[in-house]
Amino acid sequence: MLLTTAIDYTNGSPHIGHAYEKVLADVIARYQRLRGRPVYFLTGVDQHGQKVEQTAAKEGVSPEEYVEKVTTRFTALWEKIGVHYDGWAATTDQRHKSCVQAILTDLKEKGQLYKKAYNGFYSVRQEQFLTDRDRDAEGNFGPEWGEVVEIQEENWYFKLSEHTAWLQAFLEKNDVILPQFRKAELMNALTRNGGIDLCISRPKERLRWGIEFPFDPDYVTYVWFDALINYISFAGYGDSDLTLPNFSETWNDVVHIIGKDIMVPAHGIYWYCMLHAMGFSDAQMPTLLVHGWWNIRGEKMSKTLGNVVDPDQLADTFGVDALRYYLTRDITTGKDSDFDVERLVMLFNTELANELGNLCNRALNMSQRFTDGVLNCHEPLEAEDLVLQQSLVDSLALYRDAMDQYDVAKGLEALNRHVVNCNIYAERMKPWEMNKNLEKKSRVATVLYHLAESVAHCAVMLSPVLPDAAAKLAAQLNLPDLLSRRLDDLSWGLLKNGHVIEQPQPVFPRIVPAAPKDA
Ligand code: MSP
Repeated sequence: MLLTTAIDYTNGSPHIGHAYEKVLADVIARYQRLRGRPVYFLTGVDQHGQKVEQTAAKEGVSPEEYVEKVTTRFTALWEKIGVHYDGWAATTDQRHKSCVQAILTDLKEKGQLYKKAYNGFYSVRQEQFLTDRDRDAEGNFGPEWGEVVEIQEENWYFKLSEHTAWLQAFLEKNDVILPQFRKAELMNALTRNGGIDLCISRPKERLRWGIEFPFDPDYVTYVWFDALINYISFAGYGDSDLTLPNFSETWNDVVHIIGKDIMVPAHGIYWYCMLHAMGFSDAQMPTLLVHGWWNIRGEKMSKTLGNVVDPDQLADTFGVDALRYYLTRDITTGKDSDFDVERLVMLFNTELANELGNLCNRALNMSQRFTDGVLNCHEPLEAEDLVLQQSLVDSLALYRDAMDQYDVAKGLEALNRHVVNCNIYAERMKPWEMNKNLEKKSRVATVLYHLAESVAHCAVMLSPVLPDAAAKLAAQLNLPDLLSRRLDDLSWGLLKNGHVIEQPQPVFPRIVPAAPKDA
């Protein structure tokens, strides 16, 4: 599988939306590997365009220096929060530029590009030409377009309109847009966007910071045309010196994870049509996994409103585990959610520190204290034991179904359900009371075995979201190979009779919210 995220604009610092998408992709990549599927995870940065050029100028540095500085903020954050990618797509990379230029030449040879003069309105913020369809009910270009200027210029166009009928038919036949409800939105946009070609160049007198047209050096490539190509250029498309992965192996079962704002028109229309024009077959078309947005009290996060959430700071304050858990637990893939730091703390403290932490503590600490760290499951089993084993089977099935559909929140909910059942079982069995009675020693061992075996399964289910915490649990259970198992190979009995565990250490220390500062 080739799994990609959007590449982030390098015109500021990474915010919580960027972090969410990368963590989501990282979790999906790790989960797919748990399913035994090889994954190539590609992410990166979108470094060209007018906004970058303008910000660099404001800061008095060259665009090269500016993007280099900003890019390290992104790579440092991914390192810090455990986003492990296989390929890094930076659009200023020479291999990418050569690939974009080769594609432009190829499309021109195929008769897919033409040059024409155009007189019209241009949105500086969105870096695109506007049409009358972009006007609001009063006939104005709304504030979302920022500064709109009237310009006349010659540019290169891609014959997008030649591919939209194919795209419409393709989308009708194939379920490549996830979640399903986004498809209607794309189909509507396609009907509206129908006969229009795509302007893919900018004259250098207006923008220098882009990839030069190989056959017309007065022009650079439109930033979206450049950026979309990252998905193939860094997957090895047309790579002759083989410094990149082998394209024919990498480009299969492709899933692009993107936010809802960039489905229409960029990915849902331009990208499919570009691939079609390059000669990609229907079977080679990617799937779009379209996620929703993190908002603040229902409002969009924005620099102007001053409500942008900094993931780096959150990781410092609450820890990487709390951040990754929150970002995948409190949003349904595809829908929006409100970012709320109190919920971040609450979810960590209840589901991890209290529930899972309590289960680990009971299973591992009590095993050390009551059975010298040796695990044994004695026959005959009691009804409650079987009920607990069934709870794990059910949770695993729910977890797998949810995660297969990229619904991480539901997967974590399924895991949590078993953890809660384990704690109820422990409360009922009361091994701490039973242990006072010498005749019940073997029963105590069986109960603790059930709890420890559950911890082992929970560590595997948790591992895509919290890989470090899962590794700590595997180490404490003295099961070094636990996390290299496939999900389908998990079955009751990971712990053999006589297995000796290591000394337990708390893995989910409770977050104590800082006392409010004095006014
Ligand atoms: N550079 C383009 C993407 C090119 S892909 C060929 C871009 N960059 S971006 O930095 O503006 O956004 C990167 C990703 O972050 C997008 O998928 C976008 O939807 C996502 N998010 C930006 N803000 C977000 C939230 N508040 N919440 C969740 N994700 C959001 O678009």
